[in-house]
Amino acid sequence: VGSEIKIDKEFVTGEVAPNIFAGFLEHLGRCIYGGIVDYGNTKLTNDKGFRTDVAEAIKELDMPVMRWPGGNFVSSYHWLDGVGPVDQRPKRPELAWLNTESNEFGTDEFMQWCEYMGTEPYLCLNMGTGTLDEALAWVEYCNGDKDTYYANLRRKNGREKPYNVKYWGVGNEVWGPWQVGQMTKENYALKAAQWAKAIKLLDPTVKLVACGCNGVDEWDQHVVGETFTTHDFYSIHLYTTSQDHYKNVFQPAGAETAIQVTSKLAELAKITNMTNKKFLVPLTEEQKKKEYKIVFDEWNVWDPIRADGEHGAEQQYDFSDGLAVASWLNVFIRQAKYLEMTNIAQCVNVIAPIMTNKDGLFKQTTYYPFQLFSKYFKNGQSLNLSVKSPIYKGDVGDFIGLEWVKYVDTSLALLDVSAVYQPAEKAYYVAVVNRSEDEDAETKISIADAADSLNVTEWAYYHENIRAINTFEKPNEVVPKESKVTISNNSTYKFPKHSFTLLKIQE
Ligand code: AHR
Repeated sequence: VGSEIKIDKEFVTGEVAPNIFAGFLEHLGRCIYGGIVDYGNTKLTNDKGFRTDVAEAIKELDMPVMRWPGGNFVSSYHWLDGVGPVDQRPKRPELAWLNTESNEFGTDEFMQWCEYMGTEPYLCLNMGTGTLDEALAWVEYCNGDKDTYYANLRRKNGREKPYNVKYWGVGNEVWGPWQVGQMTKENYALKAAQWAKAIKLLDPTVKLVACGCNGVDEWDQHVVGETFTTHDFYSIHLYTTSQDHYKNVFQPAGAETAIQVTSKLAELAKITNMTNKKFLVPLTEEQKKKEYKIVFDEWNVWDPIRADGEHGAEQQYDFSDGLAVASWLNVFIRQAKYLEMTNIAQCVNVIAPIMTNKDGLFKQTTYYPFQLFSKYFKNGQSLNLSVKSPIYKGDVGDFIGLEWVKYVDTSLALLDVSAVYQPAEKAYYVAVVNRSEDEDAETKISIADAADSLNVTEWAYYHENIRAINTFEKPNEVVPKESKVTISNNSTYKFPKHSFTLLKIQE
């Protein structure tokens, strides 16, 4: 036996927040127009123009929160352009992806779509061309319940009740040279604190998400501490990719390091606030207990060269990409205690698990791992496992500066594992990605204090060709297969080469 997984439900590291399976929609390419809505395509839409087939496919991913409207798009988006009578809304040049924005889909349409989907909105504020006044007006439009101008504008536009949007992102990637309104970390920290103060004066119930970089950048080293007292959560973004299978499936390890580093920066921020005299206002008891959790509000496998944003970022995912997404999700389960939310970027057509045309859709290879994790890991107790596995010794970085992954992360195990215990079901869910391209992994599975004979449901996600894809013509080329087996505790299970396996083990 080469590998071993030891599981003990007493060793809980944290709860898996349902929001770990949240999504993201941006006005980019065919994500909104042609994805979420398809005005004029009466065959596949409801009376509001919402694509019902897309809604169905997203519902199966069970995303509790949806981030909108960007992304880079938001940094030149004026929300007032997108409310009121549709035929009077201005068409605008859009500076992130160099398109024209029709503004047919705006705040009220997004809110209606969220209600139709049963998902919670998460809005990102424009810190590029947008002003604090404009941001405050948007919060008032969405959440105001008094007799005030923007709350009344919402009423005039047909919505009496406030939308009560809880999550607000304070800027998007404002550190990036591609961003309209790029800032230095010092400028951002100052501005973000002032914005937070004003927004919370207007609506103290909102939760504000500060704009982070990749979690390990100098930006993060500065901004985590500077926003610790003013914001509720800290956002980070990371995309991974490579046409080399090993680099592809190991780069999500960079996200694991990023989460760990950011969470330590948050601890350091608390310690600094409690021990240094530089802050005039001492921490409140609540702030002393605050964890400053992470909102990983953009993550995915994305090759911006093969699927560039100006051409709609439509990436065809292969089976290796599906395994990489499973490894991303393993990271989130293992690090669940630090995470308030994560948002796969994005949901439809744009670097997405779902692709549409005028006649329907197909689900990409990345769809199924997300669906399985979302269905079975939510609210579970993430377990600290002991895993013995062969270690990958090759190179993993060739993209967006992830060279450091191999040198700072010692856990490049070929067998990538996470597990939760679901007390209500008295069941363990164990997710295993065998990242080896050519070796099956004979693996001993031991569960502490379990019966000798265990009933197991297995979802096996395997294709002999790591380059296999789903398409409109062959939508079911790569799909998981479900079966039931009985295994003995402490016996050996075979995880095929380059595969993802989800096991439900009944206690
Ligand atoms: O998701 C695509 C883009 O990636 C987003 O607009 C931006 O925030 C990131 O760079």
